[in-house]
Amino acid sequence: MRPFVVKPHQCLKGQISLLGDKSIAHRSIIISALSRGKTRIENFPASEDCLSTVKAFRKLGIKINLGVRHTVTVFGKGLHGLNKPADPILVGGSGTTLRLLLGVLAGQNFKTKLLADTALSKRPMLRVNVPLRMMGAVIKAKVSRKSGIPPNINKGAGKRRKSRIEEYPPIIIKGGGLKSIGYRMPVASAQVKSAILLAALFAKGNTCIREPVPTRDHTERMLKLFRADIKVQLNTIVIKSGKELVSPRLLTIPGDISSASFFIVSAAIIPESKVLIRNVSLNPSRTGILRVLKRMGADIQVTLPGRQAGKSLPRLRSGLPSVAGHPAWPAGRQVASGEPSGDLLVKNSSLRGTIIKKEEIPSLIDEIPILMVAACIAKGKTIFKDVGELRVKETDRIRSMSENLRKMGAEISVFRFRGREKIIIRGVKQLRGTQVRSFGDHRTAMSMIVAGLTAIGETKIDDISCINKSFPNFLSILKTLRH
Ligand code: S3P
Repeated sequence: MRPFVVKPHQCLKGQISLLGDKSIAHRSIIISALSRGKTRIENFPASEDCLSTVKAFRKLGIKINLGVRHTVTVFGKGLHGLNKPADPILVGGSGTTLRLLLGVLAGQNFKTKLLADTALSKRPMLRVNVPLRMMGAVIKAKVSRKSGIPPNINKGAGKRRKSRIEEYPPIIIKGGGLKSIGYRMPVASAQVKSAILLAALFAKGNTCIREPVPTRDHTERMLKLFRADIKVQLNTIVIKSGKELVSPRLLTIPGDISSASFFIVSAAIIPESKVLIRNVSLNPSRTGILRVLKRMGADIQVTLPGRQAGKSLPRLRSGLPSVAGHPAWPAGRQVASGEPSGDLLVKNSSLRGTIIKKEEIPSLIDEIPILMVAACIAKGKTIFKDVGELRVKETDRIRSMSENLRKMGAEISVFRFRGREKIIIRGVKQLRGTQVRSFGDHRTAMSMIVAGLTAIGETKIDDISCINKSFPNFLSILKTLRH
């Protein structure tokens, strides 16, 4: 395959709008399928991952029509309407499909086999299987010794972590007869939390989940919109089973902030850029990137529907589902998916380093690769604390991004202490184009394209087809901003 070549670019200018948020899109299919009747979903992103969820629910007997102009119609059959699939369900590379589906299947009185692609078959599943087994699901998975974190990538330092048993796809799950649990989550993961919440719809009694650090709350918001009995207080979520889900009939998914992040950072770091991104999801459990970039000195104006543009993110007051640490959005600003959204105007400015704390990580977990690019250009030092979860994403993103950015001249150190990892980046002003790799990871590929736009000379990326996982029209949108 011929490498993809990125040439440095002068400035990005223009206005864009993006397809719906991937996390919200998965949930819109799943929760609509579990309610009775028709739900029309607008601005649905037909990326590979989201289509995996569509295909999985079709296999479970749910009619789903993909319509024109990014609309999808789901013909839900109620909480107990899923059918045993005739053959195994293939989830491709979509971790969200797999983990959330496990939660749904834990409630089904039949056996299902789930198969994943090679990359997802290397990602840990014990974190979901443990609580679902506690609820009563019978789960068989491939068991293997967890490959320890690779030796510290700072020359010379580091030891291998002791290997432990881990579980991976393929997975066979037989559900039904679930009991509710009280579960303190050891890992801050929205996918694990969501799997438990979905299983809890089928369990007897109240299920209580405590998160170590709040994570994205799209499942809570959507379940609430579908009138599930769910309450959120600080880090604790309590959900009561037995209530049929009632569809609001129409869901409009706001633009994906994770996809927007590549344009936000590009506009912030490429001289003289000015980009307006319309209708982006501004769920406070996802806007960590905006808070961090603003701290770094980025010029970002946020406009909420019916409001004047503001330099700062609006102060968030109590309103709809308040989730731990993330004050809810002002009441009355919700769009038809129970999610807040607004416009972002980003202009170039000089950035300075900052410290990104452990508590902030879940609100920007998928944006760390692109923030690492911003940190390379910023003045001074940027520290990302407690980033160990990056090791188990689509690829080991600490490795993929450090290796690539170092080749481009970045100064990056990775430290591990008592099982915790942190990344320190010292800004170098200018990166140099060279040959880099996507590692088959969509966010590494897009981050490296942005790095290439700011570099001196050409950047060659081995294979960027992985971008289709989340953002098939990334390049065509980028083209509209280049003049
Ligand atoms: C997601 C949660 C996060 C995120 C992933 C999508 C979700 O994963 O990285 O891209 O939709 O719930 P974890 O739950 O593993 O942190």
